[in-house]
Amino acid sequence: MPVLLRAVQADITTLAVDAIVNAANTSLLGGGGVDGAIHRAAGPALLEECRRLGGCDTGDAKLTRGHHLPARWVVHTVGPVWFGGTRGEPALLAACYRRSLEVAAAGAVRSIAFPSISTGVFGYPFEAAAQVAVASVRAEVGRWPLLEEVIFCCFSSGDLAEYQALLAEQG
Ligand code: AR6
Repeated sequence: MPVLLRAVQADITTLAVDAIVNAANTSLLGGGGVDGAIHRAAGPALLEECRRLGGCDTGDAKLTRGHHLPARWVVHTVGPVWFGGTRGEPALLAACYRRSLEVAAAGAVRSIAFPSISTGVFGYPFEAAAQVAVASVRAEVGRWPLLEEVIFCCFSSGDLAEYQALLAEQG
């Protein structure tokens, strides 16, 4: 069965999928944006678990439980800060999607939802980031036999339209 890729407009903390991805920072100790929302919804036990992980490199990912979230797992990944595209940002962003899927496979995840990593506080231009997201997920999903569905979770209707246009293009 091919893996279904789709986009939705939602607060990612409300999604009842096996895993949601957090756009975190290298400390893994919380922050603003989607990171803050995930920690608020999961409760303080998530921060306790994150403290034991010893941080995370940019482009890497680490797995925790979802605690009070509807999602069973949280994959914490650290996107690149945008410096105009001169510091390897596209490759680092692609690595976030690849490593998140690898880490999710350790939790036998069938459905996973990604926010648009790096496109808030970290300043990555949305359209360019969405292209990397869709291309890297398309390139990687075939490696994980248990995976059934990847959701791109968009915060605004404009962001959703961007993803829907990309997903409608041939992979
Ligand atoms: N559900 C889905 N998407 C969301 C939500 C939500 N609840 N909240 C925001 N977004 P950002 P980054 C979208 O800034 O750029 C934190 O402080 C938002 O519209 O959360 O990777 C971390 O600790 C945007 O499209 O993450 C880091 O320090 C996308 O999520 C830093 O921000 C990512 O925006 C990471 O910055």
